[in-house]
Amino acid sequence: MPIKVANNFDSKGRPFHLAKSTRERLENAGLDLSKGYPYYPEKPKDLDAALRKQAWQFKEPGARADKEKKALLGAAKEVIDLSPHLGTEIVGLQLSELTDQQKDELGLLIAERTVVFFRDQTITPQEQLELGKWYGVPEVHPTAARVHKDLPGVTIISDEIAKTNGLEPDYKSPFGTQNWHTDLTHEPQPPGVTHLHLDHLPGVGGDTLWASGYAAYDKLSPAFQKLIEPLEGLYRSVHSYTDPITDKQAPIVNAHPIVRVNPATGWKALFVNSRFTIGIKGFEYSEAQAILKKLFQVYEQNTDIQIRFKWTPRTSALWDNRISIHSAVYDYLDEVTEEPRHGTRVSSLAEKPISVAEAPNAVSRREALGLPTGKVYEQQRDTYYS
Ligand code: SIN
Repeated sequence: MPIKVANNFDSKGRPFHLAKSTRERLENAGLDLSKGYPYYPEKPKDLDAALRKQAWQFKEPGARADKEKKALLGAAKEVIDLSPHLGTEIVGLQLSELTDQQKDELGLLIAERTVVFFRDQTITPQEQLELGKWYGVPEVHPTAARVHKDLPGVTIISDEIAKTNGLEPDYKSPFGTQNWHTDLTHEPQPPGVTHLHLDHLPGVGGDTLWASGYAAYDKLSPAFQKLIEPLEGLYRSVHSYTDPITDKQAPIVNAHPIVRVNPATGWKALFVNSRFTIGIKGFEYSEAQAILKKLFQVYEQNTDIQIRFKWTPRTSALWDNRISIHSAVYDYLDEVTEEPRHGTRVSSLAEKPISVAEAPNAVSRREALGLPTGKVYEQQRDTYYS
C-alpha cells in the first residue's frame, strides 16, 4: 500500500487528509486552517453540561409558505422528482442566493418531499450556517469535529474523522452512519432540516440512501397505526458523558412520540430509527423490541419508499429528519487516497416532536394526496397466493 502523507493536521495535531478541492473551498471561504483542521471542542466535563435543558419556541418556515411554492419552483430551470414518494432535485438555483420567500417554500418542499438536492453549489460553510438558522437553531454538538472554532454549528463528515480517532473502517466494519438512522433524535428538540454539502467524493461510490417516514407509516394497517400512535419511544445518544451523581459514563435519553406530525404539512410520520430508539416508555424491554423490530423492518426494508442518491462534488442535500431515516454507503474504502470524501453539515434543531393527540387534524400523506389507503393485505394472503 502506498504511504499516505498527510497534508494537514487537526486541532489536536494529528494527521488529517484534505482533498485539494476541499482545501480550496475552505480557504476561499476565508477559513484559517493553520491552527488545525478540523477543530475539536473540549469534551463537556459531565452529562449536565452536555444536556440542552432550556426549551425554546420554534416557528416552522414551511408552515407560512405559499402552498404552490411558485417563487422557488418558478425560478428553477428544472425540478426533477427522483421517486414518487420522496426526493427532488432542483436545477439552476444557488442556495446562497435564495430570497426569504424561497427559503420558506424550500422548507415546505423538504417537508413534502423528504429530501431536496442542489448540485453545483458555491455555498460556503458560513452561508450554510446562515441558511441553517432559517430552519431552526443550528445544533452545536458537544464533541463532534467542527469546521472552525468560530463556526460551532458546522460539523464535518469525512472518513478521516474515524481514522484520526483510532478506527480503521473497512468493508466488514464501516462507520456508524452506514446504519439507517435519523440525526440526533436524543435531543429534546431534535433537528428538522439537516443540510449536508459534499465538496469532495471518491472516484466511484459513497452514495447516500433516504427512506420516507410518511410512507413507512402509510404501510401499516389502520389497527397497528392506532396501536402505536399514543406510544412514546426512548431515544439514546451515541455519545456518553460522565454522570455527576454516579461518576459513571452515561448517554443522554429522551422520550418522543413514535408517530409524529410534521408542522409544515400536517402529515403523520413514523419516528423511530434503529440507531437511537432503544425502547418504548412503560413497556418491558422484550415487548418494546417486538414492536420496534416490526417498525424498523417496515422503514428499512421497503425499497419503494427509499431513494439512493449519487452525489457529484459540490452538491447540497437538505432533508427533513422528522420524517426520514438515512444511511451512507461506505463501499469505497478499498480506495487508497489522499483525497477523502468530505462535507460540511448543519443540523437545525426544531420543535419538540408533536404527537397525534396534539394535532387532531393530522392526516397521513396518502390521505392528504388522495391516494388509496386502508387495505389490509395480509389477511387476504391466502387468496393472493392460492
Ligand atoms: C450522515 O449520516 O449524516 C452523513 C450522510 C453521508 O455521509 O452521506
